[in-house]
Amino acid sequence: MMPKTLPDNDGFITVTHKGKKNRKITPQDVFAQPQEPDAKSGVFNKRKFESAVEDIKSSNFFMNFKENLLNILKNFCSNVESDYQVDLLQNVDIICYGLGHFASCVTARYQLAFLILLKDIVLPRTIGIYDPVFSNEEKSVLEDLCLNVLDVNEEAKRTAFSKTIFFMPHCDLPLYNNLLWANWSKEPLSKLILIGNSFQQYLLDRTGKYLKEKAVYVNYASKFVTETKIVNDFKFLDIFNNLSVHCFHINALNEIPFEVWNDNTEPVYDDADEIIKNVS
Ligand SMILES: C[S@@+](CC[C@H](N)C(=O)[O-])C[C@H]1O[C@@H](n2cnc3c(N)ncnc32)[C@H](O)[C@@H]1O
Repeated sequence: MMPKTLPDNDGFITVTHKGKKNRKITPQDVFAQPQEPDAKSGVFNKRKFESAVEDIKSSNFFMNFKENLLNILKNFCSNVESDYQVDLLQNVDIICYGLGHFASCVTARYQLAFLILLKDIVLPRTIGIYDPVFSNEEKSVLEDLCLNVLDVNEEAKRTAFSKTIFFMPHCDLPLYNNLLWANWSKEPLSKLILIGNSFQQYLLDRTGKYLKEKAVYVNYASKFVTETKIVNDFKFLDIFNNLSVHCFHINALNEIPFEVWNDNTEPVYDDADEIIKNVS
């Protein structure tokens, strides 16, 4: 039997299955399409945002994520310092790219709520955030939440000079590829954690030819990255789907032949590629 869809007043659809507990899916479950960069940014609704934070905070999804992340961080910190027990969560920065219009888009709103909760786990020194589509109103909401809105379009070409978690939910391939290019050597890669689209899934979804031409760094890194899938059992299925925590263990990095790091041409994209370029 086909599921019944019920329109909701917050942009979700409730699906009822006979004999099964109701679950909500987002409209993207039905029409999976990327957010329009020029979509109207809308008006931020604080109540809906706080309710999103509560939803995530009280979910098994987030409890499991937290436990997994802490385990990953333990291993990860042994990459960077030997004394990680003492310094497990100190001096971490978080950078978020590609969140989208959280004032109007339910997915982005929940992802922002997730970012705020991530802050409570990691206790970062700073959280930088950037998406070229943010409206002025969205920027001031972010500042009120004590996030540092970056004023330059870095195209995700930021080098991790110290431990940095990049939160890039559902960004397009060029941004991940740029991030890897900017960190294309042993030291910075060992300090970087990326929460973003699954690299393994890209290998399944895209041809080898496409990846070599358009995302050579993602393609190469997928061979030595440590990827932990985020179990997507949150009640809305299209917000945290296909996301993984990616990091690079020092032992794996030590195995990489030196020539690989020397082969580091800056990626070039054309207008058809899904990235908003820095035109200044
Ligand atoms: C596919 S959307 C993902 C939006 C949202 N996170 C989601 O899951 O629906 C990709 C996002 O990347 C953003 N983006 C494009 N170029 C960017 C850049 N140079 N820096 C940061 N974000 C960028 C777009 O504006 C868009 O919001």
